[in-house]
Amino acid sequence: TSVVGNLKPLAGLKLMLTAGPTREALDPVRFLSNHSSGKMGFALAEAAVQLGASVTLVSGPVALSTPSGVKRIDVESATQMQAAVMEDIDEQHIFIACAAVADYAPKVIAEHKIKKTSSDTLIIELVKNPDIVAGVAALENKPFTVGFAAETQDLEIYARDKLSRKNLDMIAANNVALAGQGFNSDNNALSVFWPNGQQALTLAPKHELAHHLLTLIADRYYDSH
Ligand code: CTP
Ligand code: CA
Repeated sequence: TSVVGNLKPLAGLKLMLTAGPTREALDPVRFLSNHSSGKMGFALAEAAVQLGASVTLVSGPVALSTPSGVKRIDVESATQMQAAVMEDIDEQHIFIACAAVADYAPKVIAEHKIKKTSSDTLIIELVKNPDIVAGVAALENKPFTVGFAAETQDLEIYARDKLSRKNLDMIAANNVALAGQGFNSDNNALSVFWPNGQQALTLAPKHELAHHLLTLIADRYYDSH
């Protein structure tokens, strides 16, 4: 069944997204993070509501207002993001991992502000964070699971590797080395891959791209259900 032409292809479906960066605390006043703005995830959340879905948005710290009709859960660290996702994942039909999750977090969070010492170097030990989307895709009753991949080279190779390694149903890859797309940009272009197909979504404002990607997700979802 194709959903092309259906104005509400996500009607009756529960959809959860992660968005934004995570913050990994070093001490009470410092953290490790990244430049993710959350714009793509928030655009997807807004578009998913417009396409009829019931939407839960688990967001790291971002400077964006909550799209109308979206249930938003704010978190800081990757561990908190995973806990919020797992709390409600059993009810979801579709999960989209848009967040730029920190791959590592400081092994210990200092109880007090770390003081500058006489040494010219400081070594901080990091431990790997849980992989949130891989954890969702490993569930027995997993939702249709979509990942993102921001790459600077060999887009298809890295994206397809993540698709199979994390057991995803679909991955949306963008080349963040190209000007005017990705991280803090208002526009984006995506190469979307699934196990037996692919589609290019050309450069467009993030809200427009969000509609195209969600229509494709609905199409693939109904193809597999
Ligand atoms: N992701 C996640 N939890 C993590 C790391 C990544 O859920 N701890 C998700 C992202 O939200 C994204 C996908 O996994 O949907 C791919 O993220 P990416 O950083 O590209 O993949 P990694 O496996 O971390 O590989 P690398 O950073 O080495 O490219
Ligand atoms: Ca990563």
